[in-house]
Amino acid sequence: MKRLKTYYMHLKHTDITNINNTHTMTTSNMNNNQLQVERRWIFPIALGSIVSLFLLFLSSLTTHDGNPFLLPFYRTMTSTTSRSSIFVESKISPIPIPDVPPPPRFAYLISGSNRDGNMLKRTLLALYHPNNQYIVHLDRESSQEERLDLQRFVNNNTLFQRFGNVRMIVKANLVTYRGPTMVANTLHAAAILLRQGGDWDWFINLSASDYPLVTQDDLLHTFSYLPRDLNFIDHTSNIGWKEYQRAKPIIVDPGLYMTKKADVFWVTQRRSVPTAFKLFTGSAWMALSRPFVDYIIWGWDNLPRTVLMYYANFISSPEGYFHTVICNAQEFRNTTVNSDLHFISWDNPPKQHPHQLSLADMQRMIDSKAPFARKFQQNDPVLDKVDAELLFRGKKMPTPGGWCIGSRENGTDPCSVIGNTTVLKPGPGAKRLENLIATLLSSENFRPRQCK
Ligand SMILES: *[C@@H]1O[C@H](CO)[C@@H](O)[C@H](O)[C@H]1NC(C)=O
Ligand SMILES: *[C@@H]1O[C@H](CO)[C@@H](O)[C@H](O)[C@H]1NC(C)=O
Ligand SMILES: *[C@@H]1O[C@H](CO)[C@@H](O)[C@H](O)[C@H]1NC(C)=O
Ligand SMILES: *[C@@H]1O[C@H](CO)[C@@H](O)[C@H](O)[C@H]1NC(C)=O
Ligand SMILES: *[C@@H]1O[C@H](CO)[C@@H](O)[C@H](O)[C@H]1NC(C)=O
Repeated sequence: MKRLKTYYMHLKHTDITNINNTHTMTTSNMNNNQLQVERRWIFPIALGSIVSLFLLFLSSLTTHDGNPFLLPFYRTMTSTTSRSSIFVESKISPIPIPDVPPPPRFAYLISGSNRDGNMLKRTLLALYHPNNQYIVHLDRESSQEERLDLQRFVNNNTLFQRFGNVRMIVKANLVTYRGPTMVANTLHAAAILLRQGGDWDWFINLSASDYPLVTQDDLLHTFSYLPRDLNFIDHTSNIGWKEYQRAKPIIVDPGLYMTKKADVFWVTQRRSVPTAFKLFTGSAWMALSRPFVDYIIWGWDNLPRTVLMYYANFISSPEGYFHTVICNAQEFRNTTVNSDLHFISWDNPPKQHPHQLSLADMQRMIDSKAPFARKFQQNDPVLDKVDAELLFRGKKMPTPGGWCIGSRENGTDPCSVIGNTTVLKPGPGAKRLENLIATLLSSENFRPRQCK
């Protein structure tokens, strides 16, 4: 596990030297992308001594049987050897090597309920980047008018129109708080993103009362160094009091079959704790890898489906379904990073809802190094402070990044002039995030906290 740390120390070094440079990666199409991936692996090869370290890192992180993450590496190995044996010129004019790996893409679900519309718009703009994918949803508890307003906002925004990367689930779902309809809604959005969202690497589930603490450029830059199969999911098998209060009761969510919203109801009989799989629980916020989302949506293995059916009668299923599936799936349990990437302020002992964050929490939010925080009240002054000091974002404007090349003078939106969307300009947030990731992947935290 020391190797992992050394590896990240190496990354850290590269990172810092590049932090003020702009990125020059292109991910505009698949071929280009693959070329970049190949180049990415040539770089460590050139640095001979790092190769073995890197290989060990990869094999320690991934499975032996055909994990997609290893493929680019093998492809490079074979292509470089064949090239050098056939074309002598390749030795004379080596492929130019970029100093940073290509940025990933995120697919966000931002959902809300009654009167969350305006907050959802703000969160969406704060998270916006042209190369990501977004899906927004206001559940059926919100008014028709509010949903139409959001729809107009999405359809009338010139940026969203130009890049076509923001979608709204117009036929709203009925979502019952703490019920399985919440999981169904998340799976619905993930399925749409798989089908229509093109290439993306991580699925991130947020609510309208969440807000980013780093820019997308910070996030994209930092995540570009990570294996794409990592899953950020806070979890534990130590379910404690939840065994009696969550695992044994049986609930029914009327949202599954009624047209009007009603609270979940309890069945008088209790059931025993499963023996076919082990229960895990944790935070409902997560960043899931594309391979894992494929696995749960396509269901070629029966585990995601049977666990889903089990959770249909489980109270607070969003805090258990994904955790239980990932930790019971041999091919995925080694990809878990035990964190929800959120700053959440709980009472001690925790109550049903976390604290509303305010200006007094600003320093703690920054110190947490987390990329996201919750939960915020609409128009809380702390959000203005986050905009001004962490996101450098103007009112009603997207968070600026390397793709915004307009003037900032007199309060003009720099993103009204669009430059090269593959250029990233990470700022101080990238350093915080990098420290957090290094901690999460350190030998003390990464392996020892997986599915325990
Ligand atoms: C964006 O920048 C990269 C690197 O600077 C360059 O290779 C690419 O061609 C640029 N794309 C456009 C559309 O200008
Ligand atoms: C996961 O990691 C454990 C411990 O490092 C290892 O024994 C196991 O074979 C790994 N599983 C897979 C599927 O790679
Ligand atoms: C759409 O956008 C234009 C210009 O950005 C604005 O004038 C108009 O009022 C908007 N329409 C709606 C329905 O929001
Ligand atoms: C996803 O986000 C929503 C935000 O509205 C949240 O309520 C839900 O619990 C989250 N997690 C899952 C697994 O659905
Ligand atoms: C900003 O405002 C000043 C004074 O009103 C004006 O001279 C200048 O041209 C403006 N700049 C831009 C970019 O609009």
